[in-house]
Amino acid sequence: MANILAVGIATLDIINSVAAYPAEDDEVRAIDQRVCRGGNATNTLTVLSQLGHRGHWAGVMVEEPDGRHIEADLERHRIDRSAVLRLAQGKVPTSYITHNLANGSRTIIHYRDLPEYPFAEFKKLALGRFHWLHFEGRNVAETRQMLAWAAAQAPGVTRSLEIEKERDGIDALFPLADVLLFSRPFARGRGHDEALSLLRALHPRYPAATLVCAWGAAGAWALDRHGEHHSPAFAPPRPVDTLGAGDTFNAGLIDALLQRQDLGTALAQACRLAGRKCGYQGLDFINQGAQK
Ligand code: ADP
Ligand code: FRU
Repeated sequence: MANILAVGIATLDIINSVAAYPAEDDEVRAIDQRVCRGGNATNTLTVLSQLGHRGHWAGVMVEEPDGRHIEADLERHRIDRSAVLRLAQGKVPTSYITHNLANGSRTIIHYRDLPEYPFAEFKKLALGRFHWLHFEGRNVAETRQMLAWAAAQAPGVTRSLEIEKERDGIDALFPLADVLLFSRPFARGRGHDEALSLLRALHPRYPAATLVCAWGAAGAWALDRHGEHHSPAFAPPRPVDTLGAGDTFNAGLIDALLQRQDLGTALAQACRLAGRKCGYQGLDFINQGAQK
């Protein structure tokens, strides 16, 4: 059991399941609707918690009815929230998600109007009690200070950084993390049609880092100073829901690396876990029995 701190967001996810993805300007009926907590960092923590770890969330919460929904879910997963910054006013970030029942795809429209978690809060944390620090590459200026502070205050604690979207100056974060988790949209935005092409381009600049890039149903690639690795995806018997596959992948990788598995094995474990998740609705799948 490890203590894992994740800095990032919790959202309210409003998920409409439809029989087929609608065309623009269509009017379609949702077959099902679910409202649940989401957000990359907290999704990853709830999976890590099911794997037996103790998750600690550093993010911003608002005292409003939707916020209570989020709190209840984090409580259910025993996520420690003592690092949370609580605001009296505002709106929790909300995602409007179209879930295509035909293939499990998820299309996300995300709305946010809330300050990001600031370095001033992060600085108050006693970092030495954590075994792993995970960051979303969001607010570059604040995240940069957090990563640099963590490197100085707790140099022995591994820092992973998720780079999902292009943001101004985000490269400044790369030398400050040990494990860099890139997304397919990020790679494509930088002109790479393949994961390995991005990783090979970055490796000379960050030779000590572990570079990882997940690529949906094609699996994932990784590169570190010892070499390159690929794991295929593990397709579930029936693709049900891919929302949070990447967050689950990150949890699987963190768990495997904490257990000192080599990178190739860790990559395969992360893909296996994410693939299994795609066969279930939601993220509470680890203690589920065989699929129906
Ligand atoms: P995100 O949720 O961030 O879009 P990705 O699509 O990159 O994440 O997927 C992350 C990982 O989840 C992949 O490396 C793969 O192992 C697994 N995965 C994603 N989609 C599927 C799928 N349709 N079938 C099996 N595994 C999948
Ligand atoms: C899935 C997810 C959703 C959330 C959105 C935020 O990866 O974390 O739960 O609404 O992404 O970008």
